[in-house]
Amino acid sequence: MTNRIVTRRKAVAGLAAGAAALPLLASAGPVSRKCTPNTPARTEGPYYTPSTPRRADLREPDTGGEPTVLQGFVLTPDCRPVAGAAVDLWHCDERGRYDNEGFRYRGHQLADAGGAFRFETIRPGLYPRRAPHFHVKVRGGATRLLTTQLFFPDRPYDNIGDPIYREELLLRLDREDGTWLARFDFVLAPA
Ligand SMILES: [Fe+2]
Repeated sequence: MTNRIVTRRKAVAGLAAGAAALPLLASAGPVSRKCTPNTPARTEGPYYTPSTPRRADLREPDTGGEPTVLQGFVLTPDCRPVAGAAVDLWHCDERGRYDNEGFRYRGHQLADAGGAFRFETIRPGLYPRRAPHFHVKVRGGATRLLTTQLFFPDRPYDNIGDPIYREELLLRLDREDGTWLARFDFVLAPA
């Protein structure tokens, strides 16, 4: 189980390695003042379930999926953290199946005072006509609700074939001790 635990130091190192084209962030929070453009919205799709449990660990004891940390910041267009923003994550399992009865691979959390959020989960699998993706809804008190999807940069052929894909929604992806480190910073429009 130890290879599933990613220290903050290693996670920050992964961020630094993959963040070249995105807002400059330090471990303590955002430092850049240029966080525009706003993160593009994408369709919710047919498998959203409201009222998810508040939790950061979505891993299931019987999973065969690859351990993945999804983390980043929720920011305003001028790079201020959206403290307390709700980040609601849902995705399919390693075989491309959604749990539409319960809450497997579904959960939400609130960004901390620096706008940071962090989930532990698995890489979602493939299902027909789609590239692998995470679904998210993100909302802060003074920001518009953002519904979007996040894509994996190591699946370029799947991405190009998916009409929902947008390059701006690519995760920054790294791997450390068998765990995928997937980073994304959301920039939310004012309400
Ligand atoms: Fe989906």
